Amino acid sequence: MPKPNPFTPKSGWGPKIFAGRKDEFEFLDKKLEEARNGRSDHFLVLGEWGIGKTSVLKEFKRIAQEKGFITSMITVREFRKTEDLTDAVEHLVETIPSKLPLDLNKLKKFLSQIDSLGIQVLGTGFQLSRTTERMDPQTFLLRCLHVLWEDLKDETDILLVLLDDVQNFDRVSEIFTLIKNVLSDEEIIKTGYLFAISCTPEGWSKFMQLHHPIGRYFTPRLTLKRLSGEECYQVIDRTLEETGVVFEEKIKEKVYEYTEGHPYELQVLCSNLYDNGIKGRVTLDQWSPALNETLLNLGEMVWDATYNGASEQERKVLYAVASLDKPSSRKEITNFIEVCNLGLSGGVVGVLLGRLLEKGLLAKPDKYQYGLIDKLFREYILRYRGYDGSGAVPG
Ligand SMILES: Nc1ncnc2c1ncn2[C@@H]1O[C@H](COP(=O)(O)OP(=O)(O)OP(=O)(O)O)[C@@H](O)[C@H]1O
Ligand SMILES: [Mg+2]
Repeated sequence: MPKPNPFTPKSGWGPKIFAGRKDEFEFLDKKLEEARNGRSDHFLVLGEWGIGKTSVLKEFKRIAQEKGFITSMITVREFRKTEDLTDAVEHLVETIPSKLPLDLNKLKKFLSQIDSLGIQVLGTGFQLSRTTERMDPQTFLLRCLHVLWEDLKDETDILLVLLDDVQNFDRVSEIFTLIKNVLSDEEIIKTGYLFAISCTPEGWSKFMQLHHPIGRYFTPRLTLKRLSGEECYQVIDRTLEETGVVFEEKIKEKVYEYTEGHPYELQVLCSNLYDNGIKGRVTLDQWSPALNETLLNLGEMVWDATYNGASEQERKVLYAVASLDKPSSRKEITNFIEVCNLGLSGGVVGVLLGRLLEKGLLAKPDKYQYGLIDKLFREYILRYRGYDGSGAVPG
């Protein structure tokens, strides 16, 4: 009887085997120690899609709680255009207590504060229902965090609050200035709060353009990188333990070569390889079908949304960059376009390259070179999208 697939091909699913991130854990230890000594250095975790932000925060929670520090980890929800700062603060006030590893009824001071503000708690979870006028959001958050600490201070030296996906605050981005003001208030500085927030680099740079002083507040930063080759092999070998399934050495090498250590890509690809195994063995025969399936999965889950927003001309340039097998200069790209008769002049190519960079579909590994954002995306363009989105190739 084959064992169920042990890989985790979905964002937010913690991996069976968690690899790497030693520097990040050392960093957390340091920040916890500082917070215990009365100096909370709230920090930021940056990382592109699928690089492991949620997984690393979950590990942070586990590590902190193992040391006896109570932790609340929340995923920031998306906000509608019509929502405002009060909705954002209510979201925090509802979710931070409800994600504590404690019975909510223990939070006596917090609940009585909420009650005195004319707010009812609905249901077994935690959802506020307002019966009186809304109060100033900053004062509201300050008071709530303060009483929550009063409830918990005998149980923990630190209250670690992990906010995952803060790019979802984009429609209420003033929330960062408000959080900064609350965390710098004397009443809160005296408590044991330590905040860590995770964001995509793109989302964070948008906030920076609007409210650049918060960039100075949420330092230091951790930027999550891809896993090393050794870490990838470790994930594969240890995830396969006790399944009775073996991946041939060459397959493991190819997984690293194609995913370049991207954790999400690694999990999707290995999951498809596992499903294609024959009698407990995955060999080079299974490579191509598993790779194709992976490209379709990643296209659907990640790339299509941005790719579909590229114009006809931009798609031709993407195809040219993908066809050249290494990062190339504008001149080389223009030459390729000419040879294939794709009908774009050098000047236009320059503009299109700029737009593709802005959209995050191209990367610039050095000043004069353009390349695809990653190797699997390149394969996806070549195998499934071609020069016009349909998979067609020139000529
Ligand atoms: N250190 C790791 N070792 C092994 N697998 C990992 C590691 N970190 C993350 N993964 C796996 O990679 C995938 C993506 O991880 P995760 O959801 O944490 O990333 P994310 O950055 O939060 O993604 P998103 O941008 O979609 O929110 C998941 O399948 C997860 O199990
Ligand atoms: Mg995530």
